[in-house]
Amino acid sequence: MRRSSVFHAAGLASAALLAAVLAGAAAAQEADASLLAGACASCHGTDGRSPGSIPPLAGKPFAVLSAQLAAFKAGEARDATVMTRLALGYSDAELEALARHFSQIEP
Ligand code: HEC
Repeated sequence: MRRSSVFHAAGLASAALLAAVLAGAAAAQEADASLLAGACASCHGTDGRSPGSIPPLAGKPFAVLSAQLAAFKAGEARDATVMTRLALGYSDAELEALARHFSQIEP
């Protein structure tokens, strides 16, 4: 009896631990997207609100951004200069996270 309640407690503790780990993973993904996005700010402006001639990213639809990033990575954007090389440095999941990140920013 005592033994099984110890196991029961251990089970609860590991369920709580798992929940904490999962919550942490979700938070880490959010943080990752803004960390990754920091690398875009030098050209596309803070939060993708470009002040200059480089196109802004903030508030563009997710589908457009993710298609553009995929095209850069695949080398299909013929007139692109730096983005073709840049996009190669990111996994598909990271490009999706970046597209989601910028699509959620108010332009
Ligand atoms: C060195 C400057 C530079 C950096 C850094 C940079 N970009 Fe770009 N980006 C450009 C330029 C220039 C273009 C126009 C296409 C081209 O010439 O490659 C562009 C175009 C784009 C476009 C297409 C926008 C449109 O409306 O046509 C997207 C999407 C994009 N960049 C996303 C990103 C993301 C996400 C990052 C960060 C991971 C990033 N860029 C980092 C310079 C940069």
